[in-house]
Amino acid sequence: MRTESITERLDAVVAILEKHRQGHLTNGLDSVGTTEVESFIEQVESIDFDEIETLTSSDGSAGGIPEDLEPAPVIPRHPKGEASFRSAGEALIRQGEIAAFTVAGGQGTRLGWNGPKGTFPATPITGKPLFRVFAEQLNAIDERYGIETPWYLMTSPLNDAATRAFFRDNNHFGRNPESMLLFPQGVMPAVDDHGRILLEAPGVIAVSPDGHGGSLRALARSGALEHATSRGVKHLSYFQVDNPTVHAIDPLFIGLHATHPTSSGEMSSKMVPKVAAGEKVGVFCSIGGRTQVIEYSDLPTEQAGATTEDGSLRFIAGSIAIHVLAVDFIKRITSAGSETAMPFHHARKKVPFWDPKSGETVTPADPNGTKFEMFVFDALEFVEKGLVYETDRVEEFAPIKNAEGGDSAESSGRLQTERAARWMEAAGSEIARNDDGTVHGQIEVTSETALTGTDLVGQSCPDFAPGSDLVF
Ligand code: UD1
Repeated sequence: MRTESITERLDAVVAILEKHRQGHLTNGLDSVGTTEVESFIEQVESIDFDEIETLTSSDGSAGGIPEDLEPAPVIPRHPKGEASFRSAGEALIRQGEIAAFTVAGGQGTRLGWNGPKGTFPATPITGKPLFRVFAEQLNAIDERYGIETPWYLMTSPLNDAATRAFFRDNNHFGRNPESMLLFPQGVMPAVDDHGRILLEAPGVIAVSPDGHGGSLRALARSGALEHATSRGVKHLSYFQVDNPTVHAIDPLFIGLHATHPTSSGEMSSKMVPKVAAGEKVGVFCSIGGRTQVIEYSDLPTEQAGATTEDGSLRFIAGSIAIHVLAVDFIKRITSAGSETAMPFHHARKKVPFWDPKSGETVTPADPNGTKFEMFVFDALEFVEKGLVYETDRVEEFAPIKNAEGGDSAESSGRLQTERAARWMEAAGSEIARNDDGTVHGQIEVTSETALTGTDLVGQSCPDFAPGSDLVF
């Protein structure tokens, strides 16, 4: 229990703010109540001002693209020894060494959905929310391997309560709540062009989630890593909340990560070949022999468009933000005093702020501030041998990011149907297709029925009437 009075704590906080030239943050504080003052004090106490000063004294550019940039080596689909790598992955799953980890702290601004993104209806016919899609996969995995897969789910302070309520209201979609750990990610203050932290309202500092890279320190701070260790979990299967076709736990990928000679078993990643030079996905590169991702916005057009002799893109390995990370590796890079701190990226944004002169909240028309975010793929820099494995776009990349157009619920639904159709065709079913090759109708295969196409082989699939909606 704290023994200092609120006045003493406030005095201490004011001194800190003055020292760091952030004294303006107390503007308007005399107009708010004691509870608000207390929460202001807590906000200030949680800020690492030295970190903010370091960040605002640089422009955030990582020093440009290095000259020795090469495409990262990639393990092709169906690699040599596929069956034995899959069995190795299955053994780890069966031994309870694998947990699922979903990052769901994003604000989903582009989707325009009023609620956590994981509550968004994602499947084309029954409109199952993303969280349910993942929960059902994990239920099927548990059933198959006779285990209870721990599920770590990172929220943000902005959507944590709503996410918890959603799971509670839906009986956790059949998951044991004790095997699920939800925790909010950290936040970072937004600053103006002079490095001054912005106020959202009197006594309220403008903050935003610290990026999905913040997930690693959030795993450490929340006790999730200890939870994992105490259950014998050695690796986390990491995926974003926006992709309903992700294989939440993939035996082959896990086996490659843990046992392939070109992997140090610390962090591995999946890629799909980019369809166009300008596609908005990060690209796997090799810098000084280490695998790294260069974000699409940082890859110069010249490199993005460069081609090889056969005309394909030279930097073709698009990141679909699916990784496996070793628990020990995350511990190492997040431990206190670690020299492997992940960098923050600077993003110029329109940040609404409270103006003490007018006493009004201003919503700027142009970017007026900077937000700071970490990216999880920057952890690759600390990986000795980062393995990149190629997968098929239709098989596991159908993200829902936008309200319409590319990467929308509609485009994702079409991909989900296409995947289901391919699985059925491989199992011997006839699927009616339109002249342009698209499926004539919609199909949803539940995780209970099949987790992969192979699971359908030998099963009798129902008939698919052209133009119909088939769920099985
Ligand atoms: C991201 C990747 C991109 C990759 C693409 C694949 C970045 C910067 N880019 O792009 O390289 O090719 O996905 O789909 O990541 N999130 C949090 N907390 C945050 C911010 C984001 O949990 O503070 C989560 C979101 O909930 C979402 C995911 O991270 O699940 C992706 O974030 P988003 O900002 O939408 O990345 P993209 O630009 O789509």
